[in-house]
Amino acid sequence: MKSKIPYGTGDASFRAAGGQSGIFRLVNDFFDRMERDPRFETIWKMHPENNEESRDKLARFLCGWLGGPKLYTEKYGSIGIPRVHAHLKIATPERDQWLTCMSESVAEQPFDADFKTYLMEQLYVPAEAVRRRTEAQK
Ligand code: HEM
Repeated sequence: MKSKIPYGTGDASFRAAGGQSGIFRLVNDFFDRMERDPRFETIWKMHPENNEESRDKLARFLCGWLGGPKLYTEKYGSIGIPRVHAHLKIATPERDQWLTCMSESVAEQPFDADFKTYLMEQLYVPAEAVRRRTEAQK
C-alpha cells in the first residue's frame, strides 16, 4: 500500500500541486479565468494592465507557501500577504471573487480530490487575512 505524507508536511503539498510547472499552470488558468468571466471583473480591474508580473509573483509565492522552493523571495524579496494588498479595497465580495475564481481553476487541475479540498481550505486563511487588513483601514 502506498503511504502518503500529509499535506502541509515538508514539500507534500508542493508535489501534490504538480511542482513548479503545476503551480504556474494553475496561476495562469486563474488569471485567464479572471479576465474572461465578468463575475470576477472587480478584482480583474484591480490588477495592472500587463499582469505578467502578477502571474509570476503569485505562482512563485505559492511554490514556497506549499513547501517548495522559495521562488518569490529569491526574486522579489520578503513578503507579507496582507501588507501587499493594503492599498486595495477588498471586502467580502472581492475576497469571494478571488476564492471562487481560484476554486474553479483548482477544480480543473489534475490534482487529487482531497488535495483540491485541502488547498482551498488553506487559501481561505490568507484571503480572509487580506480582507480583515484592508477593511480595518476604512
Ligand atoms: C482576498 C482576495 C484577493 C484579492 C482581491 C487580491 C488581489 C490582488 C491584486 C489586485 C494584486 C496586484 C496588486 C498590484 O499590483 O498593485 C495582488 C497581488 C498579489 N497577491 Fe493577491 N489578492 C487576494 C488574495 C491573495 C491571496 C490569498 C494570496 C496568497 C495566497 C495572494 C497573493 C498575492 C501576491 C503574492 C501578490 C504580488 C504582491 C507583490 O509582490 O506586489 N493574494 N493581489
